[in-house]
Amino acid sequence: MPAPASLPAAAPARVPLAEPRLTGNARRYLLDCLDTGWVSSAGPYVERFERALAHYLDLPHAVATASGTAALHLALRAAGIGPGQEVLVPTLTFIATANAVRYTGARPVLVDAEPRHAQMDPELVHHFLTRHCRWHKGRLVNRQTGRSVRAIVPVHLLGHTVEMEPIRELARRYELIVIEDAAQALGALYQDRPAGTWGDAACFSFNGNKVITTGGGGMVVTRDPQLARRARHLSTQAKADAVEYVHDELGYNYRLPNLLAALGCAQMEELEDFLAAKRALAAAWRSALADLPGLRPLEPSPHTHSSWWLFTVEVDPALCGLDARRLMRRLAERGIQTRPLWQPLHLSPVHADCQAVVRGRAERLWQRGLSLPSSVGLDPALVPWIAENIRECIAQA
Ligand SMILES: Cc1ncc(COP(=O)(O)O)c(C=O)c1O
Repeated sequence: MPAPASLPAAAPARVPLAEPRLTGNARRYLLDCLDTGWVSSAGPYVERFERALAHYLDLPHAVATASGTAALHLALRAAGIGPGQEVLVPTLTFIATANAVRYTGARPVLVDAEPRHAQMDPELVHHFLTRHCRWHKGRLVNRQTGRSVRAIVPVHLLGHTVEMEPIRELARRYELIVIEDAAQALGALYQDRPAGTWGDAACFSFNGNKVITTGGGGMVVTRDPQLARRARHLSTQAKADAVEYVHDELGYNYRLPNLLAALGCAQMEELEDFLAAKRALAAAWRSALADLPGLRPLEPSPHTHSSWWLFTVEVDPALCGLDARRLMRRLAERGIQTRPLWQPLHLSPVHADCQAVVRGRAERLWQRGLSLPSSVGLDPALVPWIAENIRECIAQA
């Protein structure tokens, strides 16, 4: 492994991409669960975690789930999405978004990203709705498939946000349900309102690499009391009578255990500090990369106050002399972890048979995108050293 030339005395042996920070009351709350025996979903931290997130977003309802994927599945089902229907989903996202649609029996329609900020393109959503759909007996129908188009799942990628104003206007005009996938965007704002408060419901993930973590976990949030009630009901096997084991529909074991919710409560107490750390890190990255024209940061739109979940750049191979994958491998040899973006879903063997409205942009972002170390605990003072390593890798190309 080549030794980085400019290693400062305090430089770590390994720089992970996104490592959790398990400080504050995490240990105390976890020990409380062990001491009291409340480890399952019946314990008090579950509701406390729900109240904390609902309060943070200023929303009345939150339902804690075992994962972000479970949250998406529940939100879609609670909103009535099912077989014979279609849901618009960005093609550039983590696969869970489209998988959750498929779990309901509905089909995703995959929409390309706009090129500058990498988020779902409202203009292509408009294009699909006007050119590919028509109203038939009061239903919006996809001309090609004959299925009813019922919902849209905008995904706020990388801690930035989708342009929600035009999405909401299209949803209003075409009577679409909006379920935000805010798995990566806790703490991000669009026009001064949090990501997760713009749709009929929104879903968060507390997976290990997210802004806050419960190890694994998720949440459905909504203003709609019926949607919340239904999501909660479905999350606990749709029990109509818990004593007699009577279940009134097909439910799931999707509730978050108390042990994990305890971690979530401790992490929520530190959220503002974590966000400040992420934003300071992004500022450090921007200035450290300013004189590297071959790396273009994927910036948020002017309407977004990003949470900068993963600071991501587009690598221009013509200017750098190497592409994103080779740069990733070179940095890995120096103990610095980076990661490409997700394979666009219309190229995934799982979803390649779905209708796609694409213009080659997600594919280009997939080829060129590279997320750089963005852990809450990464000292911004180390960023110039990591940037120097990037510079050296490029110079050796
Ligand atoms: C955009 C997006 N949606 C959904 C998920 C699924 O969340 P989980 O891993 O908690 O199931 C993730 C991340 O993991 C994600 O990044």
